Amino acid sequence: MRELNLILFGPPGAGKGTQAARLQDDFRLPYVATGDILRAAVKDGTELGRAAKAFMDAGDLVPDELVIDLIVERISADDCLDGFILDGFPRNRAQADAIGAAFEKLERRITAVLLIDVPDEDLLRRITGRRVSAKTGRPYHIDTDPPKHEGRCDIDGSRLIQRDDDRPDVVTKRLEVYHRETEPLISYYDEKGLLRRVDGTRSPTEVHDHIRAVLATLRLEEDL
Ligand code: AP5
Repeated sequence: MRELNLILFGPPGAGKGTQAARLQDDFRLPYVATGDILRAAVKDGTELGRAAKAFMDAGDLVPDELVIDLIVERISADDCLDGFILDGFPRNRAQADAIGAAFEKLERRITAVLLIDVPDEDLLRRITGRRVSAKTGRPYHIDTDPPKHEGRCDIDGSRLIQRDDDRPDVVTKRLEVYHRETEPLISYYDEKGLLRRVDGTRSPTEVHDHIRAVLATLRLEEDL
């Protein structure tokens, strides 16, 4: 397979970040996560962060004018020429059209949009039990994926924290926004033949195995 341009898609808490960490180990591709980029901007107090914070805290999407150019430029950069793992973008029709137009101009294409499918009833439990590395954002779960040492990231020992937008009331809002703004992109990408569904209710290892199998099939199809 030449380029591996992957979009990880799914509702809040579906396991996109969890699978991204494994896919990064597999493929050594740049990982571009809009949520992580925005949270870093908030932490650093940049202009972007100051503009984005209120939207994020409320569980709303950050306005398109703050994210579209930023992300399209990022995945068009030289280090993404062999591919990338994109998480959290696109989240509405305008963002999807922006990637489509930019890639058409560059004569590149999305390899696959991997939908990690999890019903709403499982998501709240997953998100409220999530803890993330304060440094890298790597996710853990207090019950299903605890770190080896409580409160510390396995990779670099950084402190584990709870995200500001992981409170139950904000999670409910994020789910509403997902269903209204983002879910319609499932049929958008299905019609383009790019959507691949993965059952996200299985264990992280089973989900990862399924994604690997999907990518192996795509590779075979490309070689035909
Ligand atoms: P973002 O950071 O992108 O959050 P999200 O899409 O809501 O997704 P999450 O990070 O909550 O979940 P995930 O799917 O990565 O799950 P994870 O692997 O951590 O966005 C945050 C905010 O930024 C948005 O609300 C918005 O304001 C703004 N924003 C971002 N992008 C934007 C854009 N393009 N436009 C506008 N605004 C934007 O897993 C969750 C938990 O479940 C973990 O504890 C994990 O250990 C556990 N888990 C994972 N997999 C499994 C499994 N298979 N079984 C059991 N537990 C599992």
